[in-house]
Amino acid sequence: MPRPIQARIDLSALERNLQVARRAGSARIMAVIKANAYGHGLLRAAEALNAAEGFALLDIRDAICLRDAGFSQTILLLEGFFTPDDLPLVAEYDLACVIHNQQQIDMLEAYPSRGSLEVWFKVGSGMNRLGFAPDKVPAALERLKAHPAVRDITLMTHFAHADEATGVAAQLDVFNTLAPYRMARSLANSAALLRYPATHADWVRPGIMLYGASPFAEVSAQQLGLQPVMTLQSRIIAVQELRAGENIGYGGLFRTEAPTRVGVVACGYADGYPRHAPTGTPVLVEGQRTRILGRISMDMLSVDLSTLPAADVGSHVTLWGEGLPVEQVAHAAGTISYELLCALAERVPIVTV
Ligand SMILES: Cc1ncc(COP(=O)(O)O)c(C=O)c1O
Repeated sequence: MPRPIQARIDLSALERNLQVARRAGSARIMAVIKANAYGHGLLRAAEALNAAEGFALLDIRDAICLRDAGFSQTILLLEGFFTPDDLPLVAEYDLACVIHNQQQIDMLEAYPSRGSLEVWFKVGSGMNRLGFAPDKVPAALERLKAHPAVRDITLMTHFAHADEATGVAAQLDVFNTLAPYRMARSLANSAALLRYPATHADWVRPGIMLYGASPFAEVSAQQLGLQPVMTLQSRIIAVQELRAGENIGYGGLFRTEAPTRVGVVACGYADGYPRHAPTGTPVLVEGQRTRILGRISMDMLSVDLSTLPAADVGSHVTLWGEGLPVEQVAHAAGTISYELLCALAERVPIVTV
């Protein structure tokens, strides 16, 4: 029998979360499926999100894999191409490319093709990561417009604070200085899509909300009408009956103050569970909420069964997902849901429902 851990992927939840994005406005949807669809599996996620008008990802091999699987939507490379060698493949597979620096335009100009390339021109509106500073936009756009292979240009930017109180106003003001350019536009990630209709424009680019997690610290996924897609499940494989004053796990980080029943769960950091999750991180045993005790090991973690006398070897454990929002586990571990979902290890078997 295989180890009892598995990640259950609810494909209908993906479809329903896409509908939540759809209901928020009339923009076309560029579903962000980078990082193996935030850990959910590239092709299975794309199939469930097939109603989206486009898919955004990073790796050209993933883009080719989508085309080979028959997806005819716009496929956007979010970091564009990296070397001139990528360009024949970009053309062959009709991939849209983010252009975010001068070097990419240089490569494009040196490329002999007269093919047709869809460009998403990235404007740096304040995040200072990728994109042309506003004063560099006119010259760069002129070069692109003059290129015989460029058939279509969409202006895009990305927000640094759409999920926080700071909001999008300052970046939106910068981006809106480009209003005289009559081109399609794309600005919104999940947080902007849900909170700022003024950012919807022609294309929205939701990621995390499609996977059923809230982009906001203070609003739950449930309040947003989102359903968890990934549920990480395992079972208890051993029970320890400890006296007061005994240590648990590596480093003895947790010391019992009273007699304590401890369940050992087949899930560790090599499965993608965060090693830095502290004592107190929530976990479900047979649907009942309890807590992690002590340090997370490579293959196991310990949970408090003191209030769960019926729990025993074989009891079902939910690490996150249905009944336990991944955001809550991430918050306890000092990180964000994105990191936990993306970190799901390859060794964890996936079952789809
Ligand atoms: C350029 C771009 N657009 C959209 C997204 C989707 O963001 P989110 O997952 O917060 O919706 C990302 C994710 O980081 C991104 O890098």
